[in-house]
Amino acid sequence: MEQSKMARKQDDRNKAQAYVRKGILAILQNQAEITSEEIQNKLDANNFREVDVPAVLKQLMAEGIIERPPLSRVYVRLRKVDIDVCPEQYINLVQSGVAYHDWDNHLPNLMWAFENKEFVMMIGPASAGKTEAVRKLSELTGMPLFTFNFSLRTREHELVGRLDTRENGEIYFKPGVMTESMKAGGILYLDELPSAPGGMLLKLNQALDSRREITTDEGLVKAHPRWFVVATMNPLDLRGGGTKQLPPQIMDRFPISMDFKLPIDVSTEYAVIKSIVPEISKHSAAVRKGISVIQDLRQSTDLFYIPGIRASRTIARMIVAGKTLQDALEQAVINRYIFWGTSEKAKVAELVYSLIGRSGGY
Ligand SMILES: Nc1ncnc2c1ncn2[C@@H]1O[C@H](COP(=O)(O)OP(=O)(O)OP(=O)(O)O)[C@@H](O)[C@H]1O
Ligand SMILES: [Mg+2]
Repeated sequence: MEQSKMARKQDDRNKAQAYVRKGILAILQNQAEITSEEIQNKLDANNFREVDVPAVLKQLMAEGIIERPPLSRVYVRLRKVDIDVCPEQYINLVQSGVAYHDWDNHLPNLMWAFENKEFVMMIGPASAGKTEAVRKLSELTGMPLFTFNFSLRTREHELVGRLDTRENGEIYFKPGVMTESMKAGGILYLDELPSAPGGMLLKLNQALDSRREITTDEGLVKAHPRWFVVATMNPLDLRGGGTKQLPPQIMDRFPISMDFKLPIDVSTEYAVIKSIVPEISKHSAAVRKGISVIQDLRQSTDLFYIPGIRASRTIARMIVAGKTLQDALEQAVINRYIFWGTSEKAKVAELVYSLIGRSGGY
């Protein structure tokens, strides 16, 4: 009895080492320089059990895969239940180095949903961080990310797959993105789901119900138990940018809804931008002013469009590159409103100049 327990423990440890090894390889593939603390942070978010990372690194060194071990000796814990391993051929789809700042505390909920395979619907305006959050999930879990962007032009075979011919005339099944993610057991990200044509929603309906399978030209494909799906939609109100309703039966297949918002205070948004453009510390006053102007615009209820976090990021980059705040705001925000006519642009320009003064001052 005791012996089988010990054997099981050793087996667990081996699996753990193998998993950490894969994780580290995935991380190193996109990131040559990393400390062992950073590796720990990446692996730790998942309720990991003790594993000797330096031993894994030493082994990788002995095999000539890495040159030298990352600094400082730390241990990470490896997940106890169901050790997830990314299939070798999809390692390149595991995200890394994602500078996501979790200001609204979405990641713990996303991680829980991932662990429990409760599919998630992210709802929020453009550039509220939906895509970045799911990329971060891929990084934290070490699972590959398969992305599908819906538009009016997307075709069912891109999602499901179809028979294709090789150069030598051989016919084979070329899987679509969803089918591939189901087989691999990765994270499927369905961006702007309401834009999906009706026929595709039917296919999704089948895949997402409790059987988790679809019929393809290759036959029935059953999803790997690790398969996880996150979809997004933009709110239907004018400024949310959403275009179409989603049938309730599809909505129901995503039991967890996450409300992605744009930050409403300058410090929070500044911290988000700082995680992507660290150089802003040297231009903090101008960047904060820019963010505060953008946040004021978001408050005005009569605009057709409101700038998101992307606009703040662009303004920060321009300021770091030496442009004035006024120039940055004109190019990243004001000029856009010409789309709704000169008077709309003039209205926004007036609002912005009343906030910063016409010559900027920054
Ligand atoms: N929490 C965050 N941490 C770091 N960067 C963020 C965050 N939120 C937004 N960003 C920045 O804003 C940009 C837009 O974010 P993202 O692409 O995730 O938005 P989205 O919600 O997917 O928008 P869309 O609906 O337009 O696809 C990102 O490239 C990133 O630079
Ligand atoms: Mg997105």
